[in-house]
Order: sequence, then structure tokens, then C-alpha cells
Amino acid sequence: MASKTPVVDVHTHMYPPEYIKILESRDAIPIARSFPGVPDPRIVLLSTEMAPLKEAEARAARGDLPSTAALPGRPLTSHYTSVDQKIHFMDTHDIDISVLSLANPWLDFVDKDQAGTLAASVNAGFSAMCKEHPGRFFFFATLPVTAPADVILKTIADVAKLPYCRGVILGTGGLGQGLDDLAMEPILEALAEAGLLIFLHPHYGLPGSVWGSRGNTTGEYGHVLPLALGFPMETTIAVTRLFLAGVFDRLPKLRMLLAHSGGTLPFLAGRIDSCVRHDAHLWKAAKSRRSIWDVLHEQVYLDAVVYSDVGLQAAISATKGAKTGGLDRLMFGTDHPFFPPLETDEQGEWESVSMNADAVSTALGDGSAEAAAVMGGNAVRVLRLYEEPADKA
Ligand code: URA
Ligand code: ZN
Repeated sequence: MASKTPVVDVHTHMYPPEYIKILESRDAIPIARSFPGVPDPRIVLLSTEMAPLKEAEARAARGDLPSTAALPGRPLTSHYTSVDQKIHFMDTHDIDISVLSLANPWLDFVDKDQAGTLAASVNAGFSAMCKEHPGRFFFFATLPVTAPADVILKTIADVAKLPYCRGVILGTGGLGQGLDDLAMEPILEALAEAGLLIFLHPHYGLPGSVWGSRGNTTGEYGHVLPLALGFPMETTIAVTRLFLAGVFDRLPKLRMLLAHSGGTLPFLAGRIDSCVRHDAHLWKAAKSRRSIWDVLHEQVYLDAVVYSDVGLQAAISATKGAKTGGLDRLMFGTDHPFFPPLETDEQGEWESVSMNADAVSTALGDGSAEAAAVMGGNAVRVLRLYEEPADKA
């Protein structure tokens, strides 16, 4: 009997307990806060939510915050922190394997003297989780991006030896100045040489001013503008900057998995290509380099976290192998624990998962070989999930 291709979730996050403790102790974003009469603490990640948070805290201190009041951020449920909950979520959605990663904003805000130790502890925690549940979990490690370069490079060397580590999760800020910062290149080179895939994920969005006062300060439009539009543009801009800086050419072994189907990169790649070709200053150098399409076909993988077959079709077209025509660069993900259902039980099925799974079947055909590749086959191959985990220390 032919064995079924497994379902693999390559985009699924957790916050370990020591990370939550840090968030609880902070007075700036990212922050976790409890409110009287509210069952779960709130986790607040978006900078535009600091003012509403301060206001809610002031009201709570005056005893003037009804338990039904709208609070900033989102409820910090056990879905963010519990491995048993993650397994329950996987079983509920027929997910065989999850490639775990720390959720944003990772260690981007951590004091430079503490970042190395904290990264080692977070990575050891994820390693232990994988070891306790063999075959169910692998992970993308976390880098201490605020630490001195030698500490970051040592972390890369260390995580490359961890048997269940398959890459690193990285924010678009890099070391603070973006990924095309010259100081970032040795780090990217070390990752490329170690064969560690970079899972590139947004956090910062676009400046709050672009959302206008109703979108930015009053909370009238909730998280829609920063998450639906800011996140994808952030990823698109980060990768385009890397491309324009020639980093993909200089580091041919560099491989990136782009969150949210590459933001808007598949849709805008043609426009990026055309702008390069029509910029006299740039074209001189760019002519001898590979195009954005070459990068999409050779160095980039996309997750399928785009919630509609319309966006997924762009991701499919943009990544189909130029030479082979194969659909081998697209991988299913859920973005769990973000986007829980609002009107049904969180312990049951999540619409955010079925929207992504349905997009795959609609775009590629229910039960087709290509759908199976996206749902898990590609991840097994690209991330070597059937390789016997060996301690390389
Ligand atoms: N998905 C994430 O991974 N992070 C967020 O902050 C929101 C959605
Ligand atoms: Zn995510």
C-alpha cells in the first residue's frame, strides 16, 4: 500500500515560558499584561497599541475597566505556550509534522548582553520539545540579533549541530538596519554555508502614519491594516532590498522561506524586474546579475499562508521551476497560534487553517499530486524531515 504523503506545517509558532516572563516584566512593546476579571493575559505586539494599552491599564487601576471592555493586543492563551495544545491542534487538523519557530518579535528587543544566553536557552527548549515527540516536531532556531557578531556566528555554528534544527527564523530588521545592511552579510553567509534555511517573517509592518488616524490611533480598524497589508509589504520590501543589493548573487547558497507566500513578491516580481530594466543607473550592474525571477526559482521557497486560491495562484506561478516546471518550492503552513476562531471552540477546527488548506485544493485539485507536494511532500524533501536526526556535535 502506498503511504500517504504527510501534512507538514512549516509556519507555526510558540513562545516558551522564559520568553513570556520577559514580556510580563516589560514596560514597552512587546509586552504581556493581565487585567482583573479577564481570564487570559493580553499579549501586545504592535507599536500602535501602546497608547490603548496604557489607557486600559489606567482604567484598570481606577477600577473603571468593565470585564467586557475591548482590550489591545490578543488573548495569550495556552495555544501560544503549551506543547500539548500544539499537538492537539495538529491532531485536530491532521497535521503530521510541525516545524516550530519562536513567534515575533523573537529576540529583536533583547539587551545585547543577554541575547546570546537567551537564544541558547530558547533553542535548547525547542530541541528538547522535538526530542520528546520524535517525528512530530522539527524547528527553526532563533538568533541573538542584538548580540555582537561573534555571538551570532557562534549561535549559528551551535544550532547547525542540533539534530532537529532545520534553519533559523529571522525578522526583516536583521541586526537592526535591515537585511541589506553590510554587517548582515557575514551572518547570511554563515547561514548559507551551514545549509540553514532562513524563514523570513515580518513584524514591523509599515509606519503607523500610512494607516491614517482612524487606522492608527483609534483602533477603529483593529489589526486588519497592519497584518493584512503591512506585514506582506514589509516582507516584499526586505527581499527586494536584498535582491537589489546583489546579496543573492554573492551568496548563491542562500535559501529563504518567505512567510505569507512572499508577501506581495509573486504579484510584484514583474514590476520589480521592469523597474530594474528601466533604471539606467541600476541596469548597468543588474544586467549581469540574475533577475528577481531567477531568485524566486532558485533561492526562495514560499509558504502557502495566503488564505485564498487567488493569491496562491500567484505564488504557484512565480515559483514553478523555470527548468522543470515542477511545483517544488511551496509549502503549507497555518500561522498557529495566531488567528484563532472567534465564534467556534478554539479546541475544534480553525477557519484560518481550512482557508489555507482549501486554497491548496482549489488551486491544485483535491487529492492531486501537486496538492500533496504543497501540503507536505515539499517540506519533507526541502527540510529533510525523513532524515534520521543525528547529533552533529
Ligand atoms: N502572525 C504572526 O506570526 N505574528 C503576528 O504578530 C500576527 C500574525
Ligand atoms: Zn507567523
